[in-house]
Amino acid sequence: MRIVVTGGSGRLGRTLVSGLADAGHDLVSIDRQPSDRLDRPDVAQLAVDLADADATAAALAATRADALIHLAAIAVPFSAPEDVILRTNAGLAQSVLGGAVRAGIRRVVAASSPTVIGYGAPRGWTPDRLPLDETSPVEPWNAYALSKLLIEQTLDTLRRQTGDQVRYASFRPCFVIAPEEWAGAPTQQGHTVQERLDDPALAAPALFNYVDARDVASFADSLLAALDDIPSGEVFFVGADDALARQPLSDLLPRFHPGTAEAASALTGDSPAFSSAKAARLLGWHPSRSWRTELAGSPTPASVS
Ligand SMILES: NC(=O)c1ccc[n+]([C@@H]2O[C@H](COP(=O)([O-])OP(=O)(O)OC[C@H]3O[C@@H](n4cnc5c(N)ncnc54)[C@H](O)[C@@H]3O)[C@@H](O)[C@H]2O)c1
Repeated sequence: MRIVVTGGSGRLGRTLVSGLADAGHDLVSIDRQPSDRLDRPDVAQLAVDLADADATAAALAATRADALIHLAAIAVPFSAPEDVILRTNAGLAQSVLGGAVRAGIRRVVAASSPTVIGYGAPRGWTPDRLPLDETSPVEPWNAYALSKLLIEQTLDTLRRQTGDQVRYASFRPCFVIAPEEWAGAPTQQGHTVQERLDDPALAAPALFNYVDARDVASFADSLLAALDDIPSGEVFFVGADDALARQPLSDLLPRFHPGTAEAASALTGDSPAFSSAKAARLLGWHPSRSWRTELAGSPTPASVS
């Protein structure tokens, strides 16, 4: 498949592009600027400001791609003023996803975020049940989470325009850990994976979720392979099979998220707060990496079997 990835120079994008190229696809990355960290001469890198709808439409049409994966966004909550995050992410979704459809791209996929669920809301958050899955209610409480919900709904909007001749899906990747971060490079939040494990307060805002970027690449490969055969417009959580924690979440979650004790009692052992069971059921996809095997020198957790 010829696949165009927006935001291919980014933290997730570099690994996604490389992983899909390794899987045998023909890749085009579109980003504001090419990445010299994407050391792949076989991947075409186009420099386009995707906020420019005309330039975006022209670039997408020129790719003659079979599929698009839209990652480009302001990727961190509160990293810019709320109005800028909302305008940027929702606007990019319009220009990129709408542009892809008008360019004749038949498979259109976008990155959403688990934050649409609304955990960490200042006035409290009480889930009915854990782990969270795609049927859990969405209650965004900041502009980033709202922009991600809008991206999911932009796909729904386009689906109502085109019907099933174009296939759509969105995915909500958990806290992405790129391969170099296992070896000590800073994560998206600035600290290392080791520090995130050592201080549960660091991983608590994301409910101790995580996923290896290479597993997101294998998810995307499975998704694109299945997209013509599953219902169009599905949303998927994409996370590791365990929590990024040394203690069970039944203990940790209530400490950091008051109101979760009852639901969290189901999260014994190393169970994560997010379920990827839908991706397993519909796509046959399973994450293959865990911090327990990837983190060099990681001590064996004493309290978790
Ligand atoms: N990293 C995570 O833990 C995580 C978790 C959930 C969802 N996501 C989502 O996954 C996607 C990728 O995240 P990431 O961590 O790789 O982010 P990132 O910031 O590392 O990469 C985003 C890329 O988009 C590009 N971009 C932004 N605006 C652009 C524009 N106007 N024109 C062209 N390029 C533009 C940037 O140059 C950058 O390379 C985002 O949509 C993010 O919201 C990420």
